[in-house]
Amino acid sequence: MNNNDVAKRMLALRAAFASNPTYASFQRQFQTLLERRRFEMDAGVVSEARGIALIGASGSGKTTAVNRLLRSSSDLVLGGIDDIRCDVVSFPVPSPATLKFVGQTALHSLGYPLRRDKTAYIIWDMVREHLHARRTLFLHLDEAQDLSLHQTPREMQSVINTLKSLMQNRSWPVGMILSGMPALKNMLNHDPQLARRFYPIEFPSLNAINDIEQVFSTISFYAAKADLTPAEDLLLPDFAARLIHAAAGEFGLTIELIIAAIERALLREASVLEPRDFREAFTLRSGCVDGLNPFVAEDFERIDSRKLLGGGI
Ligand SMILES: Nc1ncnc2c1ncn2[C@@H]1O[C@H](COP(=O)(O)OP(=O)(O)O)[C@@H](O)[C@H]1O
Ligand SMILES: [Mg+2]
Repeated sequence: MNNNDVAKRMLALRAAFASNPTYASFQRQFQTLLERRRFEMDAGVVSEARGIALIGASGSGKTTAVNRLLRSSSDLVLGGIDDIRCDVVSFPVPSPATLKFVGQTALHSLGYPLRRDKTAYIIWDMVREHLHARRTLFLHLDEAQDLSLHQTPREMQSVINTLKSLMQNRSWPVGMILSGMPALKNMLNHDPQLARRFYPIEFPSLNAINDIEQVFSTISFYAAKADLTPAEDLLLPDFAARLIHAAAGEFGLTIELIIAAIERALLREASVLEPRDFREAFTLRSGCVDGLNPFVAEDFERIDSRKLLGGGI
């Protein structure tokens, strides 16, 4: 297999989506809220909207889960700028997350040019108007824990109050999906009125006791996609424990390591995916010596994988 073929297969692997229990409950909860809202609209009833808080550490798979949900729900219209209807508007929280800047970003996501000359009050009035005009049912804010970052408690509260008022709006209530790191939970709990409007869903950290089966099935899922057979050693509890540890307990990072190991196997033109592929993949990604490689070190549990993987996680 030449490098182009490997690159092609890698693209397909990276585009694949591995189902998981957290995604399943997120999807169920979203569907429930969506159906309820549509039912109420048909019945001409207006009631306060609700939200989902999708919480997990960096690399757990939050952004991927929301993107997947929005793209795979065939009954959602994610209108482009020219379409009238846009069921969900999604954007990452900008920094600094001041009331005005969050409002400007929301407006921009709705397809309107940034207007710096307007006050926060006018901007949010426009956001409300456009959400109604586009018949938007949900607003998704990614990295929502940043709402409390780099700003005064007063600014944070004003953003939260504004989001709350969107949910309670009498003429067009808008539901919320907030995805973010565990600090998001503290932020919501800080305001009980807000917290009770949200259903929290968490990406739990994987562990070597409860999640071995999930790890095995994820390895098998990706190996099969690449026409590789997993070596028997990969399906032993010790290997699963090492892989979970190497991925800092995060589901998404586990997948990244599996895909990187598959690339090693494809490049050496193997038909079996082996532990050495994982070892090499970790070395390449972290640049660390064997003593700090969870696929090599005897006492791998003392290694701080998150630190070694560094970068964006
Ligand atoms: N269900 C999934 N299927 C396939 N890949 C996933 C899945 N969840 C996460 N990933 C991969 O894991 C990595 C981290 O996921 P991401 O959604 O960015 O995490 P987060 O937003 O929680 O930091 C990405 O490379 C992503 O492609
Ligand atoms: Mg993310």
